[in-house]
Amino acid sequence: MSSAAINFSEKLAMFTELWSPRVVAEMNDYQFKLVKVKGDFVWHDHQETDEVFVVLKGTMHIAFRDRDVQLSAGEMYVVPKGVEHKPYADEECHMLLVEPRSVVNTGEAGGELQAKNDLWIQQGSRVLVR
Ligand code: NI
Repeated sequence: MSSAAINFSEKLAMFTELWSPRVVAEMNDYQFKLVKVKGDFVWHDHQETDEVFVVLKGTMHIAFRDRDVQLSAGEMYVVPKGVEHKPYADEECHMLLVEPRSVVNTGEAGGELQAKNDLWIQQGSRVLVR
């Protein structure tokens, strides 16, 4: 067990890639991932799980087929499993995602924005692939 707190600002300073979630902690089978976003993601859904978005900095939107949810720093949203959604942000936005291990960020959609899973950020180092 680590004696150090997990510091979001410190972790966020260790990568610049957009739409590329980095794991900072796990709780049982769930992962906490930091991600930087800007622009449009792809329409997708997750058949097996809900997905939690917690905005740490900036503003982003989650488009659904019938509505649009705006989230700013200090706000969160739970996307229910199986519901199509498309995150987007006009300016760079930083978020914490909470979801089970091995969830694919693009769901069934795939494509060039599909990110590698299990990219960890370790204290005092660059990104490690576990
Ligand atoms: Ni999603």
